Amino acid sequence: MKLLENRIVRDGQVLGDQVLKVDSFLTHQVDYELMKAIGQRFAQVYKDQDITKVVTIEASGIAPALYAAEALGVPMVFAKKSKNITMNEELLTTEVFSFTKQVTSTVSISRKFISSEDNVLIIDDFLANGQAALGLEELIKQAGAQVAGIGIVIEKSFQTGRQLLIDKGLTVTSLARIEKFESGKVVFAPADDA
Ligand code: G4P
Ligand code: NA
Ligand code: NA
Repeated sequence: MKLLENRIVRDGQVLGDQVLKVDSFLTHQVDYELMKAIGQRFAQVYKDQDITKVVTIEASGIAPALYAAEALGVPMVFAKKSKNITMNEELLTTEVFSFTKQVTSTVSISRKFISSEDNVLIIDDFLANGQAALGLEELIKQAGAQVAGIGIVIEKSFQTGRQLLIDKGLTVTSLARIEKFESGKVVFAPADDA
């Protein structure tokens, strides 16, 4: 998605050789016009696949996921990283290990929000090692639902996540794919929506 690549070039900051800071439009301050365009692009790719629900994980997946849900005309559900006292119903739960943060967290979704009838589009802001997406797929599997695909805003193609998901038979649609960082600049690989 050219609009997204251009924004990454303009406003993204490369930190070291692994991390892209995009807090001015995606992970902290959020540009709703860009998010809406991103949501519409995911919807365009998945429009003929009878998606019934968009599922993401808090926090930064929520903005693009909500616009994808709007464009598809279906509900958006986000997995929670910590339990709160009102989550007293039956939960779908799994563990997600973050290589970046070196911590394991429990993520959950109330069972009542995903059923075996659902055909789910998973959305997330970043794909690095794929553990968040894998965790979401596990929750959806626990509900007996189908995963139609995984929509990613920014994929770091030099990390292991994409291949891990493809090896599991999952379809990955990344709107921006970063092949590498070179002298503080982003080098893109061809995006999946091109
Ligand atoms: P993985 O799910 O692909 O295995 O990712 P990993 O554990 O390595 O990433 C941990 C967190 O860091 C995730 O957010 C992920 O979105 C984010 N992340 C990974 N690489 C980058 C990057 O290059 N730049 C930025 N800005 N973020 C990155 P999180 O902490 O789980 O969620 P959130 O609450 O921030 O959304
Ligand atoms: Na995320
Ligand atoms: Na994030």
